[in-house]
Amino acid sequence: MLYFKLKFFLFYILLLVLNVNYVVTQFITASIIGSTVLGGWFGWDTVKDNTFCLLPKVECCNDKHVPYNLSRLKVSLSQKMFGQPLVNELVNILVAHKESIKDVNRQNKKALVISLHGWSGVGKNYAASMIADAIYAKGMQSRFVKMFMGKKDFDCSDMEKSKKDLMATINLIVSSCPTSLIIFDEIHDMCPTILDTIKPMLDHHHAVDGIDYRNSIFIFISNIGGPQIATNLLELYDKGIKRNEVEFHHFEPIIRRTSYYTGGFEKSSTIAQHLIDHYIPFLPLEQHHVEMCALAEFRALGVLQPTEEMMIDALSIITYGPSEDQPIFANNGCKRFVKHIPYVIQKYKPKEEL
Ligand SMILES: *[C@@H]1O[C@H](CO)[C@@H](O)[C@H](O)[C@H]1NC(C)=O
Repeated sequence: MLYFKLKFFLFYILLLVLNVNYVVTQFITASIIGSTVLGGWFGWDTVKDNTFCLLPKVECCNDKHVPYNLSRLKVSLSQKMFGQPLVNELVNILVAHKESIKDVNRQNKKALVISLHGWSGVGKNYAASMIADAIYAKGMQSRFVKMFMGKKDFDCSDMEKSKKDLMATINLIVSSCPTSLIIFDEIHDMCPTILDTIKPMLDHHHAVDGIDYRNSIFIFISNIGGPQIATNLLELYDKGIKRNEVEFHHFEPIIRRTSYYTGGFEKSSTIAQHLIDHYIPFLPLEQHHVEMCALAEFRALGVLQPTEEMMIDALSIITYGPSEDQPIFANNGCKRFVKHIPYVIQKYKPKEEL
């Protein structure tokens, strides 16, 4: 609270120094005096929510900007994610985490750490952005969401600096909002050992350098384990287990084992010490899932009933694997539709509408 007051005060000084428009300054003076008085009565957070946080460009860590609406996640997953029984479990996982945030008697013992695995194009990033959209009003654009990318964000030749920067960035975000979301994408391309930097933040500590990480969420995304997930699924099919009947334990051991030898997870104590709470396998898509994706994409673009010709054209870019003898799984999932379907729509339009 004191920290906030100080920040506000410095902001005010800055405005004066910059000699911002007199009226604005007057308004802020009035609000500061007003909120100082009110703050004594109602508590700072209430006053802040009703003054500063209502300014158009301000994003605060409150219910308005962080609605944490998991019904929204449930709806998005059911409408846009096809053939992924275990991905749907994200809703239950997040509800459990959220309930422990709200309930003082239960309290989260550690940050929630989820690792998403699967072939490219099966919707891992899509799922992460659905989570962000459900928790934050601004979704991925929220300042409480940070995404680090495999190769791009870390300089493996200067690990000391990379690690220090990483710590500083995450500290800053989580200290401004305890319910922040930190995403590491393309872990398979990340320098080994980088993840060990954040290990203390994922562990059962009340606070690390004075910051409490236990209500935050960390998501790891990679294609590690993709081929193994496909092989396992085929074996389960052979045993008569249906897609909707698969369980986490059918995949977790193989994903953990594969991860421990790959990219940013290599020999990672994050894995060895069981700091990842959930390994979520994204199953490779089959023809009817890909058809559902295509249909959803057409509809999103305003074509409610694509003709059979258009569907055939859209689906023609999909190839199936894992081998020519077993053309069961769509190689790139639904990824290529984003560009291909707008093209198909254009192609089948009557000429005069060009
Ligand atoms: C949460 O999301 C659902 C589904 O999108 C929506 O119907 C509901 O109004 C939202 N609730 C709040 C409190 O915003």
